[in-house]
Amino acid sequence: EQHRLIAETLAEFKLTHEQLLQVKKRMRMEMEAGMKKKTHDSAKVKMLPTFVRSTPDGTENGDFLALDLGGTNFRVLLVKIRSGKRRTVEMHNKIYAIPVEVMLGTGEELFDHIVACISDFLDYMGIKGARLPLGFTFSFPCKQTSLDAGILLNWTKGFKATDCEGEDVVYLLREGIKRREEFDLDVVAVVNDTVGTMMTCAYEDPNCEIGLIVGTGSNACYMEEMRNIEMVEGDQGRMCVNMEWGAFGDNGCLDDIRTIYDKAVDDYSLNAGKQSDRLALLQVRAILQQLGLNSTCDDSIIVKTVCGAVSRRAAQLCGAGMAAVVDKIRENRGLEHLEITVGVDGTLYKLHPHFSKIMHQTVKDLAPKCDVTFLLSEDGSGKGAALITAVGCRLRDAEQ
Ligand code: BG6
Repeated sequence: EQHRLIAETLAEFKLTHEQLLQVKKRMRMEMEAGMKKKTHDSAKVKMLPTFVRSTPDGTENGDFLALDLGGTNFRVLLVKIRSGKRRTVEMHNKIYAIPVEVMLGTGEELFDHIVACISDFLDYMGIKGARLPLGFTFSFPCKQTSLDAGILLNWTKGFKATDCEGEDVVYLLREGIKRREEFDLDVVAVVNDTVGTMMTCAYEDPNCEIGLIVGTGSNACYMEEMRNIEMVEGDQGRMCVNMEWGAFGDNGCLDDIRTIYDKAVDDYSLNAGKQSDRLALLQVRAILQQLGLNSTCDDSIIVKTVCGAVSRRAAQLCGAGMAAVVDKIRENRGLEHLEITVGVDGTLYKLHPHFSKIMHQTVKDLAPKCDVTFLLSEDGSGKGAALITAVGCRLRDAEQ
């Protein structure tokens, strides 16, 4: 009887090839809606322009600071990039905690804390006097109007500090630096972690034109044709688009495959109606740890079966989204066949025993005309943010 119940419950998590093709098709429709002026405001998958117009070309050079906020760890980094025949990237970083009360406090408290961490880092590295250019990896949906301006649309992933939504986070950071009256920094770029990940991998593999995160949240970016991005002036060349695909389905377009469990997880989350939050994940982990201590063998098997079904579905959904992206790029370029690399980061992708394999297989099944390589991003988006900052500095200097 118990077995029948489990089987019945888990059947809801199975997705057929046809259903996955549907998901791919719907993602494609949502992408189009996000990029069209007429539908952008109401679209859920926002397809946000990033003002990153090319991947690195190897000429990037200099010392940069980077912040990385929005994943498992908040980090401050010093990145030294050397161009030339023997290109090198040297990184120093320190992880800092962001207490829950700061995540949920006021915006001023949050940015004061961030600046206090930068101050500690500059001391630690012995570089307090240097006015270094800084790239701010801020992995939340931001409406950018230039490389160094990003208005936070809404918090996700367990953050909920007040007075930030609707504000330019670069301005908030600059104000925090001013309030401290201790050092000056040149904030050059605001960067999404997907974009940082793509840039990091593109530095090694020029075929890398997609970034993917499967961790605290899930999101993707890719190089789109300017002519298709109606939100930005100009038709020439390409620009990286931050899809914010975590919002896929928020308009109900996936309701037919949503289960009561998805709804329950969402209802209990901090940002209900938006991606599930980090607090919930920590709670689940704590519960599982407790289970591990007191549970019977049977319970463990059930937990394992349930986790298998849930994570398989997640990997398939992610694969269906990626299939939509690679086929879009292939069509953009009028190709019968596309070879492309995806730079990937995120603890779920890196640590889960089967997630990546299932996702790769799904992309193969759903986008057979594309040959997709997945490249792990090793040093995270700190390096990517520095590369973007380097390009930003170069363009700015050229303008002056
Ligand atoms: C890190 C990147 O390695 O991966 C971050 O540096 C990114 O920018 C993170 O946000 C995503 O993974 P997770 O599992 O930490 O959310």
